[in-house]
Amino acid sequence: MSARKVVLIPGDGIGPEIAEATKDVISASGAKIEWVIRRAGVSAIEKYREVLPEVTLDAIREHKVALKGPCTTPIGEGFSSANVELRKKLDLYAAVRPVRSIEGVRTRFSDVNIVIVRENTEGLYSGVENTVSPGVVMSMKVATERACERIARWGFEYARKRDRKKVTVFHKANIMKITDGLFISKAREASEQYPDIEYEEYIIDAGCMRLVQDPGMFDTLLLENLYGDVMSDLCAGLVGGLGVVPGANIGNEYSVFEAVHGSAPDIAGLEIANPLALIMSAVMMLRYLADSEGREDMREAADKIKTAYNIALSNGDKTRDLGGNLKTADFARVLIQNILKI
Ligand code: NAI
Repeated sequence: MSARKVVLIPGDGIGPEIAEATKDVISASGAKIEWVIRRAGVSAIEKYREVLPEVTLDAIREHKVALKGPCTTPIGEGFSSANVELRKKLDLYAAVRPVRSIEGVRTRFSDVNIVIVRENTEGLYSGVENTVSPGVVMSMKVATERACERIARWGFEYARKRDRKKVTVFHKANIMKITDGLFISKAREASEQYPDIEYEEYIIDAGCMRLVQDPGMFDTLLLENLYGDVMSDLCAGLVGGLGVVPGANIGNEYSVFEAVHGSAPDIAGLEIANPLALIMSAVMMLRYLADSEGREDMREAADKIKTAYNIALSNGDKTRDLGGNLKTADFARVLIQNILKI
């Protein structure tokens, strides 16, 4: 099998450290990936004067698939978020984030198995903000029939393909009657096409309470953009934190795989970041390539990496965020040793 070219965006903060570790692990797994490295985020500004240069977008358009490290969003400096721009410009409308209890990572719950499906292109992320008059500012929550309908269908289709049993929508349609009202009406319409999958709704505040009491009640969560963002971190907290939750941003033409966490400026450069969430995102990417391009070699590599990190965590080989003392590169080295023994 020939090498598959994939775009790699190391990103900012801890991004380059965890991207390096991920590259090493993938290489040891035998997956034939040729990285096409491009910049985005603050690290792109110096060279290109923008957070999401056209050369980066063009590379993803050409190769269709990217693995992305976290990008810092400069606050109030006139630059938009590279992450939000990327999702909008490539129409990566579905974010999917599997949140599962992991062997070897002890938390309050041992039975979490939730997939978050987040609408990625609109809501309060539409960027429509303005000053109405001095001292009065406004942010517009945008919902369109097209986006609500396609994410609902995508969520149900995903649930069916993965043999999941239930889709739950969290919303606030009691207050945002028109926008969240549209979101749930499209989810209800989609649910009628999938009678094999149970459908339920919670007002988000009550839903959060139920979720932290008994996460085993939930299966697939279908959420608008901001709720999806918040719930992703909340659910990460149930399984050990941001270091163990991967993700993918999927559109009809392109896919960008990235961890849920951000660039963690508080620990950048210290070489203590956990690379596992990005490694798990890379595993999702290898499986995606296996499914969409028939690359069984990618599936084998993905299985090896998963086995390797399960062994590592069960043996107590962990980074600091999970209660261990391994540095970023040391954790990668342990995974590589485990892979070589498989
Ligand atoms: P964050 O996720 O970067 O950090 C939150 C906390 O989790 C910090 O204490 C950090 O040290 C810790 N943490 C995160 N990832 C970790 C890892 N892999 N290993 C160990 N500890 C980890 O969230 P924050 O601080 O709100 O955002 C920082 C920057 O990242 C902001 O500019 C934000 O806009 C950006 N961001 C980018 C995302 C992306 O590129 N997709 C997603 C979320 C935030």
